[in-house]
Amino acid sequence: MSTDTPALDSSPAIASEAHGAVNYDDAIVKKFIIATLVFGVVGMLVGVILALQLAWWPANLGLEWTTFGRLRPLHTNAVIFAFTGNFIFAGIYYSTQRLLKVRMFNDVLSAIHFWGWQIIIVAAALSLPMGLTQGKEYAELIWPIDIAITLIWVVFAINFFGTIAVRRVKHLYVAIWFYMSMVLTIAVLHIVNSLALPATLTRSYPVYAGLTDALVQWWYGHNAVGFLLTTPILGLMYYFLPKSVNRPVFSYRLSIIHFWALIFLYIWAGPHHLLYSALPDWAQTLGMVFSVMLIAPSWGGMLNGLLTLRGAWDRLRTDPIVKFWVVAVSFYGMSTFEGPMMSIRAVNALSHYTDWTIGHVHSGALGWVGMSAFAMLYWLVPVVWKTRLHSESLATAHFWIATTGIVLYVVAMWSSGITQGLMWRAIDDAGQLAYPSFVDTVLELMPFYWIRLVGGTMYLGGMLVGCWNIFMTARGASASAASAPAAFAK
Ligand code: HEM
Ligand code: HEM
Repeated sequence: MSTDTPALDSSPAIASEAHGAVNYDDAIVKKFIIATLVFGVVGMLVGVILALQLAWWPANLGLEWTTFGRLRPLHTNAVIFAFTGNFIFAGIYYSTQRLLKVRMFNDVLSAIHFWGWQIIIVAAALSLPMGLTQGKEYAELIWPIDIAITLIWVVFAINFFGTIAVRRVKHLYVAIWFYMSMVLTIAVLHIVNSLALPATLTRSYPVYAGLTDALVQWWYGHNAVGFLLTTPILGLMYYFLPKSVNRPVFSYRLSIIHFWALIFLYIWAGPHHLLYSALPDWAQTLGMVFSVMLIAPSWGGMLNGLLTLRGAWDRLRTDPIVKFWVVAVSFYGMSTFEGPMMSIRAVNALSHYTDWTIGHVHSGALGWVGMSAFAMLYWLVPVVWKTRLHSESLATAHFWIATTGIVLYVVAMWSSGITQGLMWRAIDDAGQLAYPSFVDTVLELMPFYWIRLVGGTMYLGGMLVGCWNIFMTARGASASAASAPAAFAK
């Protein structure tokens, strides 16, 4: 099947790295990798604290800055924009240069992008615990930070499209198309959803009102998931997975269909977040139908990823990178089956507002996003630091701790969500609510919250093992470079 791969020159598994004349900028890749790990640990530590607070409320310390309502957006912003954002940038900066056989367009723009993005993250980490928020999920940051995001994104876009413009190969490998869709769509989503009239330096009023505001917000919210947590990572999968097993992608034609079908369908599915709301019925149905159709391209992509491993399945037993990819791609398949199911009105009537949504989110976030990140990093770190991975056994240990953690987290949340949904709608013989007090349900969920805490802590623990392994890899590389004769030090 791989015979339909065109332009073999630019297929990553086949393309030679021997373009000695090109002086790729790997320093920027290393910076983004370090930022990924630092903010990944911070963001997930906050996740673990939130999980603890839900099981044992005194963990909010009785301070306004550490209450659940303030730390929750800190968690989501840190894991989505800081951890995921930085790992995507690391992968894009590395692979774009190789796929286009040219150095990034402009080093100064790369540096402004990196430092600007980190300053934005620090601004978010300070302002959110202070309670400064616009109150829109995943778009909480106040208007001056929103403007900074726009400017830095434009810098990234100029650098990225500039690199495409000066490329040395004609064909744009499918990964580049996935990256392009992210760069363009996130810009449009962010600008349209953040339009607001500033009142003071820290407060503003959205230009939309009521239902329009809700619709714009969930068009943004859903596509932030689509074009930050999904599309660019699929691009990275199409580059780094074939690289990891040294084979071409299973079907290049399927990857192109995957791309166009996915981006066409994704953009319409936002209303599945507003089922049973005041949104017109036709718009809710539109969101539901497009969400159900999304199964097709998503599973096409999943199969394309898994089948790329054909002939290399034996490595699943021994190679931690293959293990990470298999679990990541499988969770992509699972959450893109679950999501369309939850978009069906009758199912959403049970799942909405419950922990089932949290289970769905984290099967995508921990399973697909987090495992893809480490699949990529375990391959990329030794390459950019020009050395070998410090320890394969530690990487394997990380894999098992993280995978067990995900299973505990997700199964606890499914069980808790379904219990919650069923209890809310239960009716006794007299037609009254069987559990009129909200606390009844909360008490029932407590065991699941403790299990989620154990799962989340394991996931964070696995990540710390990964950070140590990567730190030792980089340190070993610097030590051997320092002790090598000058001629070999490069
Ligand atoms: C075909 C793909 C998918 C579809 C159709 C889909 C559908 C859904 C639905 C119906 C909800 C619940 C909405 C509600 O009741 O409020 C939801 C929530 C969510 N999904 Fe998905 N999902 C998909 C894939 C994914 C993936 C792969 C991820 C993560 C990587 C993800 C992340 C989220 C997040 C973060 C939320 C929570 C939004 C919020 O209420 O804050 N989804 N999704
Ligand atoms: C150690 C790992 C993690 C733990 C323990 C954790 C824990 C939590 C907790 C307790 C919540 C609040 C749930 C609630 O309000 O009921 C939450 C929300 C959320 N987390 Fe995590 N998390 C982790 C990693 C991640 C990662 C890696 C991502 C994304 C890449 C992520 C994305 C989200 C999102 C989008 C929400 C909001 C969901 C919604 O509004 O429906 N989390 N997390």
